[in-house]
Amino acid sequence: MRVTSVLLAAGQGTRMKSGLPKVLHPICGQPMIEYALRAAWEATTELPVVVIGHGAEAVRQFLGEAAECVVQEPQLGTAHAVQQAEPLLRGATDLVLVTYADMPLLRPETLKRLVETQRQNSGPITLLTVFSANPRGFGRILRDEQGRISGIVEEAVASPEQLAIRELNVGAYCFRADWLWDALPRIPISPKGEYYLTDTVALAVADGFSVASMVLEDWEETIGVNTRIHLAEAEAAMRRRINNEHMLAGVTLIDPATTYIEPGVVIGQDTVIWPNTYLRGETVIGRDCIIGPDTMITDSTIGNACMILKSVLEGAVVEDHVDIGPFARLRKGAHLCEGVHMGNFGEVKDSTLGPGVKMGHFSYIGNATIGANVNIGAGTITCNYDGERKNHTEIGDDAFIGSDTMLVAPVKVGARARTGAGAVVTKDVPPDTLVVGVPARPLRKLTPPDAESQS
Ligand code: UD1
Ligand code: CA
Repeated sequence: MRVTSVLLAAGQGTRMKSGLPKVLHPICGQPMIEYALRAAWEATTELPVVVIGHGAEAVRQFLGEAAECVVQEPQLGTAHAVQQAEPLLRGATDLVLVTYADMPLLRPETLKRLVETQRQNSGPITLLTVFSANPRGFGRILRDEQGRISGIVEEAVASPEQLAIRELNVGAYCFRADWLWDALPRIPISPKGEYYLTDTVALAVADGFSVASMVLEDWEETIGVNTRIHLAEAEAAMRRRINNEHMLAGVTLIDPATTYIEPGVVIGQDTVIWPNTYLRGETVIGRDCIIGPDTMITDSTIGNACMILKSVLEGAVVEDHVDIGPFARLRKGAHLCEGVHMGNFGEVKDSTLGPGVKMGHFSYIGNATIGANVNIGAGTITCNYDGERKNHTEIGDDAFIGSDTMLVAPVKVGARARTGAGAVVTKDVPPDTLVVGVPARPLRKLTPPDAESQS
């Protein structure tokens, strides 16, 4: 059976008071439409159709190949919105799953069950309802004396008795497609001049069908976003959901309320996350790490048994047993090999620090390749930018860079070489050589035992 999702995203979202289309406002780092789209996609068999209107170009651009877009212009209500998908879908699908793009917390499993219920249903509609004392402007579900659904009334036009009804329309429906296309043009215009999708329910009843429903247990799934207050509620609920999944998978969050993990992040077992930590984008963290407090990691890969304290990482790769911080910054292209120690106030960009490198204090390493077990003294700087281009620095294994060394790139320091404190290195340093001064000159050749004894 072919099942296609129609996701409504054309509304203006006036109450957001924003230049950004409502459905592109992020929740835990992802535009809210992404959640709705993914859930709809998982519950259906065909490419989803998204109805766009306000901010159409921005939404279309975000969706790319992930959906087929149809434009609703002007926006004459939710039934009119669904009607825009008919030319594309008539004859091309058996069931239509309609959801709203401003409900990011609806789970894929819920939509799957909704579709499954409609598959078994002989009538043309299954809809999702929820019981709640806080109606939040939702439509109310009307039932007859036998308890059968007879209609949905929108809050704006409901009578006082209807307003007291606690069963609410969530805003997710699965329709039999042929009936839907036939019903949409028959929907009457509302007093507000809109065509309400919710009126399909009364039409089905008038056609002699019964309307099926599925009750949602978890109220949180129905949080819809109309204002920025709702946006913050949705953010908090999504954050809790993500954090709970990690905790159930064996990750310790010292304080989940101040731990901000985006949906794509992967974290290994027995890793401990301290408060006020942000794990963002395509980040992967291994097992047995200690991360935070006060740390932000974006699009980075961290190995096992690492310690990262009060630091900022972006686009970095960190291998096993590395400790970082406090107050370290890794930028794009930073690669710290196994066992690296990077202490306070260091910055690394587009550079590889070989296994066992020690960089304890106040250093900037950019566009550099640093060999194994190199010691980088306090205050070392790679002067990688000459005003026009970025130049490369290379340091061989077991070299010792004295405190406050300036490495004026492009430059190479050979294996086991040493630089004296305050050296300004403007020329390549051969292996096993000590250089000192400004500009740095060779002082003497280091014999291997000498190199041993001083390291
Ligand atoms: C709608 C339901 C209501 C339900 C509530 C749950 C209708 C008539 N009412 O009300 O019963 O309880 O959702 O959240 O459906 N949209 C378009 N084109 C339009 C109008 C709306 O694409 O012409 C889109 C909006 O972008 C939004 C969705 O449809 O994503 C819902 O519209 P909205 O105006 O937010 O409906 P509600 O008043 O919340
Ligand atoms: Ca809404």
